[in-house]
Amino acid sequence: MKIVHTIEDVRKSVRQSRIEGKTIGLVPTMGALHAGHASLIEAAVAECDFVVVSIFVNPTQFGPGEDLDKYPCTLDTDAAFCENLGADLIFAPSADEMYPSEPLTWVEVEKLTDGLCGANRPEHFKGVTTVCAKLFNIVGADIAYFGQKDAQQTAIIRRMVCDLNLPLQICVYPIVREPNGLAMSSRNRYLSAEERGRALCLRKALTACREQIAAGQRDRNTLIDTMEAIIAQDQGRIDYVSIVDAETLEPLKTIAGKVLVALAVHIGDTRLIDNILIDLNNPPNIV
Ligand code: PAF
Repeated sequence: MKIVHTIEDVRKSVRQSRIEGKTIGLVPTMGALHAGHASLIEAAVAECDFVVVSIFVNPTQFGPGEDLDKYPCTLDTDAAFCENLGADLIFAPSADEMYPSEPLTWVEVEKLTDGLCGANRPEHFKGVTTVCAKLFNIVGADIAYFGQKDAQQTAIIRRMVCDLNLPLQICVYPIVREPNGLAMSSRNRYLSAEERGRALCLRKALTACREQIAAGQRDRNTLIDTMEAIIAQDQGRIDYVSIVDAETLEPLKTIAGKVLVALAVHIGDTRLIDNILIDLNNPPNIV
């Protein structure tokens, strides 16, 4: 496995793989890799002939006061992790390589970015879509792999790819959880042992919501009240708890169709997100 830091070098390697007739997979990450990323890399290795993992803590998707400065940088461990999983190339550019001058061109998806995480992180998705568009252009992959934990991000990226006719496929893989149910996240390493216990309230709230829906509850406010009460018991500070249409991300008053139940909660200083997808179309799929 090779590690490259420049756009020129990643293009050179990919060009060579193309000449050899290989299909190219891309797993975009910000590093601090965990089992959630492993599931994406494994899928890419299974489906593509040449797998690129990008590791770039993208400054343009962090707002003022967010954790850009303390975001974990673990390139050596990440490289060993990727190599074990069978990745072919790590692309780990510097911020100057990706943004050599102040960017005047941005890729922005409207509407889907307004609610959920976008409500309190107004510039976040503009940074995500811009860096993903750049990575897609740099690597020229056939397939890019994302995790369902970032449900809003995946909906937005799918829409960007569709609206801009970008020539790649987006594959989304299920959330990977720790044995106790906590969704895997690079930010879990910020949590103290006591906070790790309290962080389970995200999963508990989502499970309760799913159980109520399975029992026939269809009223948004009742479901949200239940989730908020569970989070309050563990002193979680709620950013949002919402129930939206899984494609449009519009809030649902009455629960029907393909439903995304999503939440963002601060446990201590750490902001965590989690979600579940429920398909109430015929036949319903409440797993
Ligand atoms: O999900 C992430 O880790 C990031 O948002 C991404 C897609 C790598 C863009 O920086």
